[in-house]
Formats: sequence, C-alpha cells, structure tokens
Amino acid sequence: MRADATTVAEYSTDAGLRARQRLWSFQQPQFALADWVLSLVSLPASALVADVGCGNGSYLGRLRDRRVCAVGLDLSRGMLTSTGHRPAVQADAVHLPLGDATVDIVLAAHMLYHVDDRAAAGREWRRVLRPGGTSLVVTNGQRSNASLRSLVESIVRPTTPGWEMRNPSTHDFSLDHDAAPLRASFDHVEVIRAPAPPARVTDAGVLADYVASSADRYQPEVGLPWAEVVEQVRARAAEVIGRDGVFVVPADVGVFVCR
Ligand SMILES: C[S@@+](CC[C@H](N)C(=O)[O-])C[C@H]1O[C@@H](n2cnc3c(N)ncnc32)[C@H](O)[C@@H]1O
Repeated sequence: MRADATTVAEYSTDAGLRARQRLWSFQQPQFALADWVLSLVSLPASALVADVGCGNGSYLGRLRDRRVCAVGLDLSRGMLTSTGHRPAVQADAVHLPLGDATVDIVLAAHMLYHVDDRAAAGREWRRVLRPGGTSLVVTNGQRSNASLRSLVESIVRPTTPGWEMRNPSTHDFSLDHDAAPLRASFDHVEVIRAPAPPARVTDAGVLADYVASSADRYQPEVGLPWAEVVEQVRARAAEVIGRDGVFVVPADVGVFVCR
C-alpha cells in the first residue's frame, strides 16, 4: 500500500511539518508531548522501539536521550534524512521490514490517519511486537486546533459555502473515532488524553505558516487561491493578537495504548 499523492507531497521534506510543530512551541505552560507519550510505558535500556512514521524524529531524539534503541521507519526519504538518526529505514506502516516478535514498543505518532487500511497496520504492529509489547498510537482529538480551523472556514466559506477544514487527524482517525481497527489485533485498547495546554500564539506569521503548509491538501476543495487564504489568516490573526495579545489554539491530543 502507498500513501495518497497528497500525503507523499506533503511529507517530501519536513518543511511543512516543522511549520506545524512550531505552533505547539507556543503552548503555555510548555508541554513536551513526546516525553508524556513515552512516560506511559516502561522503557528499560534493553527495550527496542519501532517508531513508525517517525517524521523528522521528534520522538527518536527523546529516545536517544534515554539511551533506548530505536529504529525510525517512514515512507518518506526526505523525512528519514531530516532525522539524522540511524537506523532509519524507508518502509510502509503495513509492511515493516522487521521480524515477528522482535520489538517491545511500536510507536505510531500522528500517522495512522494517513493509512487507508488501519486494521492492516494494527495486524502488522501486533506481528512485530514481542508478547507483552505495547503499541502507542498518538492522534488528535476533534477539538484540536478548533479556533484556527474556524478562522480558515470563515475566510473560505463566502466563496465555497459549507466548506469544512477536514484535517486527517481530527476527521479521519482521531481520539474520538472508534478504535475497532486496533481492537481487531489488540486485546486491550485504552485511550488516554494528554493534559496538553493550548498554544497562546503571539506571532500571526506562525498561524499563517501553519495554514500555508497544507496548501496541497485544501486548494483543490476551495474557490480562493490558498495563498490568499493564508494572507487573510495572517491579517485576521494579527487583529486578534493586537486586540487580545494572543490567539489561542486549543490542543486536544492523546494516545491509544494497545496491548
Ligand atoms: C504528521 S507526521 C508525524 C511525524 C512524527 N511521528 C511526529 O509525531 O512528529 C506523519 C508521518 O507519517 C509518514 N507516513 C504517512 N503514511 C505512512 C505510511 N503508510 N507508512 C509509513 N509512514 C507514513 C509521513 O511521511 C510523515 O513523516
């Protein structure tokens, strides 16, 4: 299975992902999502972690800090290069180049919503896990980014009535979706929401860059050039920041812990 063309283009480099990650550096108080996720499991020095859809390596860095062995796996060569991590292997989440029962933790952070056959991914992760192993599947809840999505929708709807900014992480597979594709392979699936504070953004450019990073995904659906949407986001967010001192973006994120 391959990802769709939009997903492949979106992740050919980590530029767009970095723009989106930057938004969360405005969380107050600061919240280290990767550390919180990793704190949910025991990670002895002997553990082996498979970081599936590792992106630009935000979790791999935290695992290195803890001296835990990890292999980074991602469909995108550009992403793997950006991690600077070894081993880093180009692979599809549903066909991992790992033997049966060889890893202790499968980490799949903010990626399962890009996989069409999520049940096949669950089966594959169960296959590579040792007995007693855990899969940590991180995704957003449906309230994530609600204020920013509303702003974009208010800009787009005069030309494209009824348009919804359907983000894969809130609309395709979120914490609020049925975890049946994971339950088909795991006996116990528990959802744990992170105590993640909102981002309190004081730079309208950060919000504009965030929205600009998804041009390929949304441009085909909307009547306005996406670059114009981005400029309107910048202007309206600057107004809010000028008035209130801050543009608040809610975080809603957590993990399906699968055993
Ligand atoms: C939103 S990024 C998340 C990156 C990282 N896990 C994090 O949380 O920072 C999604 C990543 O999943 C990768 N990806 C998408 N579909 C995939 C698939 N079928 N198999 C492996 N990786 C995939 C993308 O290339 C991208 O690097």
